[in-house]
Amino acid sequence: MKVNVKKHAMMYPAPAVVASAYDEKGRADACTLAFATMCSHHPPAVMIAINSTLKRKTLKSILNSEEFCVGFPSIEHVGEVDYLGIESGYNEDKLAKINFTPKKAEMVNAPIIEEFKVSLECKVIHIADVGSHTQITGEIVNIQADEDVLDDRGKVIFEKLNPIAYDDITHSYFAVGEKIADAFKVGLKFRK
Ligand SMILES: Cc1cc2nc3c(=O)[nH]c(=O)nc-3n(C[C@H](O)[C@H](O)[C@H](O)COP(=O)(O)O)c2cc1C
Repeated sequence: MKVNVKKHAMMYPAPAVVASAYDEKGRADACTLAFATMCSHHPPAVMIAINSTLKRKTLKSILNSEEFCVGFPSIEHVGEVDYLGIESGYNEDKLAKINFTPKKAEMVNAPIIEEFKVSLECKVIHIADVGSHTQITGEIVNIQADEDVLDDRGKVIFEKLNPIAYDDITHSYFAVGEKIADAFKVGLKFRK
């Protein structure tokens, strides 16, 4: 039997990623986001959503610079990722506090966080206010990855990245489990 559940923004699985941008003084800001997803192949683009009713320094910096990076943290950095989501850049130099190294990205004027194994460099191409959040679409103009998470064709090996999954209902972080099937193949049996 199905029952109605309290309304809540939800999506499974949700990621825990880190958006970063420079403020007007050139200082690196970064905050943790669960509201983040891919949204276009051509051009390659991602969408992030940041609460505009609360004071988020990273939102201000992204809207100001119109460029940002999205880092994909691995599970070993769960503590640092949580900290970036519970403290504001208005109060602390968060990246210095956790000994993370922001470095200017190659193709955009935004900081890449060296400790993350894969990072997207994005230019803002669309902004929309939806309720409490500002949705920002960024065209991916470059991707940087550590060599040791790439296969011999330069593709990211998911298990080596070991990204963090997040459950916004219980406020919990999870490691992702093992591979279960090949996409675009496992369903072919139903086509017959
Ligand atoms: C796991 C996690 C996910 C979060 N996801 C979002 C999100 O998607 N959008 C948002 O506006 N804030 C989100 N936050 C909250 C911000 O990261 C937090 O308010 C942060 O302190 C903002 O920092 P800033 O002021 O330096 O930008 C999240 C926090 C955590 C811990």
